[in-house]
Amino acid sequence: MLPRTIDWSDGRIVAVDQTALPELRMRRIGTVDELVEAIRRLVIRGAPALGVAGAYGVALAARQTADPERLAAAADRIACARPTAVNLRRGVQRALAVSGDGPAAVLAAARALAEEDVAACREIGRRGAELLGELCGAGPLRLHTHCNAGALACVEWGTALGVVRTLHADGRVRYVVVDETRPLLQGARITALELAAEGIEHRLVVDGAGPSIIARGLVDAVVVGADRIARNGDVANKIGTFPLAMAAARAGVPFVVAAPESTLDAATPDGSAIQIEDRAAGEVLDVGDGRGAPAGTPAWNPAFDVTPAELVTAVVTEARTLRRGADLQV
Ligand code: MRU
Repeated sequence: MLPRTIDWSDGRIVAVDQTALPELRMRRIGTVDELVEAIRRLVIRGAPALGVAGAYGVALAARQTADPERLAAAADRIACARPTAVNLRRGVQRALAVSGDGPAAVLAAARALAEEDVAACREIGRRGAELLGELCGAGPLRLHTHCNAGALACVEWGTALGVVRTLHADGRVRYVVVDETRPLLQGARITALELAAEGIEHRLVVDGAGPSIIARGLVDAVVVGADRIARNGDVANKIGTFPLAMAAARAGVPFVVAAPESTLDAATPDGSAIQIEDRAAGEVLDVGDGRGAPAGTPAWNPAFDVTPAELVTAVVTEARTLRRGADLQV
C-alpha cells in the first residue's frame, strides 16, 4: 500500500519522491526554495498533486513571513515553478486568499484542498467507470493510459487510474496498456507500480507502439488525465497523448479525459493559448543506463502536447461529464 503522495507533518511538506520511484523514498520539504526546486525536478508532479503542493507551499511561506508583499512574491515563485498544469497556480491562489487570517488559516485551506482532491478522485472514478460502461459495455475492458494520472499524481486514488481502479473493483478490467512515457518514464516507473500494487493486469509498451496497438483493435478505450483543459475543450497532457487520441479517433475507440474541475480553465480560450513547458535537452539525450544520443546532440523536449477537443470523446470531472460537440465547452 502506497502512502499519501503529499501531506503535511511537523511544519513540513512530506511527499513521495517521484524521481526515485519505483523505489519508495519520502522527501521532507521545509522551505519555499526547496519546494520550487522539488516541483521543477518533478519530485512532486501530476496536476492535482501540484495544486496541493502549491497550497502547502504558501503555508510554508506564511510561517516564514507575515509581510503581504513577501508572501505574494513567494507564492508567485511557487506558481511559476511549472507553467502548464493550471492546478499549481490555483492551489497557490486558494491558500493565498486566506493569508490575511494568519498561517493556521492558510494551512487549513491547504489541508481542505487535499481532502477535496481525495473526494474528487473517488467521484471521477465512479463517473468515469459509469461512462465507460455506457460507451464500451460491461467489459472486462482493455484500456490504454499514458503517463501517470494515478494516486501518485494526486493525493490518493487518481483520476484516469481512479477510473481504472473503480472498474477493477467490479472485475471490469481485462488489462491496461501502459505507455512508458519518455523521457522521464512516468508510465513505466509510476503507473506500472500502481497497477502492480493493485493486482491490475497490465502491459508496458514503448510510446511509439501505442497508436498501432489501438489500430490493431487491442484497446476498447483510452483514458488519460490532463494538465489544463481550455474553454473550447482542448486538452493539454503529457507529450504523447495527442498521437493516442488521433489513433483512437481513427479506430473509433473512445478517448476519455478524467480530470478534476480544478483542471478546467475557462480563462484559456483554446489549446494554442496553453503554455507548453520546455524541459532540458539532457532528459531526452539520456536513456536508461546512459547510452543515449551522442553528447551535445541538439534536442527538443516539450513536456506536454495539446489534443484538440474534436478528438476527445468526453471529459469526466467529479461534477460533470462533458461530451464532444454540444457541451464540451468548459
Ligand atoms: O510532467 P508530469 O509528470 O507532471 O505530467 C503529468 C501528466 O501529464 C498527467 O497526465 C496529468 O498531470 C494528470 S495527473 C492526474
